[in-house]
Amino acid sequence: MNTQVAIIGAGPSGLLLGQLLHNAGIQTLIVERQTPEYVLGRIRAGVLEQGTVDLLREAGVGARMDREGLVHEGVELVLGGRRQRLDLKALTGGKTVMVYGQTEVTRDLMQAREAAGAPIIYSASNVQPHELKGERPYLTFEKDGQLHRVDCDYIAGCDGFHGVSRQSIPEGVLKEYERVYPFGWLGLLSDTPPVNHELIYANHARGFALCSQRSETRSRYYVQVPLEDRVEAWSDERFWTELKARLPEAVARDLVTGPSLEKSIAPLRSLVVEPMQYGHLFLVGDAAHIVPPTGAKGLNLAASDVNYLYRILLKVYREGRTDLLEQYSPLALRRVWKGERFSWFMTQLLHDFGDQMDDWDRKMQEADREYFLTSPAGLLNIAENYVGLPYEAVE
Ligand code: APR
Ligand code: PHB
Repeated sequence: MNTQVAIIGAGPSGLLLGQLLHNAGIQTLIVERQTPEYVLGRIRAGVLEQGTVDLLREAGVGARMDREGLVHEGVELVLGGRRQRLDLKALTGGKTVMVYGQTEVTRDLMQAREAAGAPIIYSASNVQPHELKGERPYLTFEKDGQLHRVDCDYIAGCDGFHGVSRQSIPEGVLKEYERVYPFGWLGLLSDTPPVNHELIYANHARGFALCSQRSETRSRYYVQVPLEDRVEAWSDERFWTELKARLPEAVARDLVTGPSLEKSIAPLRSLVVEPMQYGHLFLVGDAAHIVPPTGAKGLNLAASDVNYLYRILLKVYREGRTDLLEQYSPLALRRVWKGERFSWFMTQLLHDFGDQMDDWDRKMQEADREYFLTSPAGLLNIAENYVGLPYEAVE
């Protein structure tokens, strides 16, 4: 087989990059290890920055999002007993976020690819990139017991944190930056109306809690839990009781509870590898970086990488600008690090770090909570990061 850009992984990164390139007349082939049902079964976050929304529209997959997604003009923070609404729209001169589940984004992208008749191979095993530093890179994989080879110009490693792309870069090339946090998030999805029309991020002496939503009838809630906790130890009832205990009384009173559709625990982690390019291989999204979910940046940083790689490849194929290829990693990383900073900052601001924080750290946390919610500059700082910082031009 032959293609121009071989894409490993059919998560949001791979599918979005594939759609944009396909629409531009650049051939792509996506190779995914799981089945489409498995990919759609993963429950992930659901807050899209304006830049992500615009990119999805540009890819021609914005119709259902524009119909069913919820535009949010604000978000609430509860810190040290103080409940404060951030008017995102007013603070940022008109910017908002779109609440639309990552699962739905993925579903729309899958359907668009199928409608376009662009090739995608699911249930591929042993995917391996080769000759990354040579002129003719290629992929091999197995499907139904047969070995296949795909010759290509470039390989996009969109295969998430556990993917093969990052692992196929020789040892010593990448520098890894990591921070692990001493807690996880227990999430619960339920067919109950959201407790508030906007998201509420709450800190409490018992730990962090988040009230999010997928639609007017479906809610997503989270509570901070110790890393050792098992989801089996958390009955729905225990979850609802703990959530209510961490929310302001007025919110807890309005909370509608119901049976969980899904419940899981995810550890929190920050990780970046540099650079995001090795020869003809480009790392995109979770393959190169992980953020804790507190800033809602995971999918948005993936979209930001896709934006840069897509615009660079467009100029490579249309204008012969191969000089731009080495710009991908620095361009993408500049924005990644700002997203990492914000996610780390929000995590630090909102969680109970137990004995990982000394007295000084706690005083700093308190001062941050006080400052960021009372100063107009503090509020603007959070707001402009939450709606998403601008993309740089690719020239
Ligand atoms: N071969 C082929 N496919 C693979 C391989 C492999 N060796 N390893 C992983 N994959 C596939 C996974 O099955 C998955 O479908 O790559 C895809 C990666 O998708 P994601 O993990 O969703 O990563 P990405 O597309 O970068 O999306 C980033 O997902 O984890 C969230 O917070 C994150 O919202 C962000 C988004
Ligand atoms: C979610 O809806 O799952 C969600 C929303 C905001 C976050 C994290 C998760 O910061």
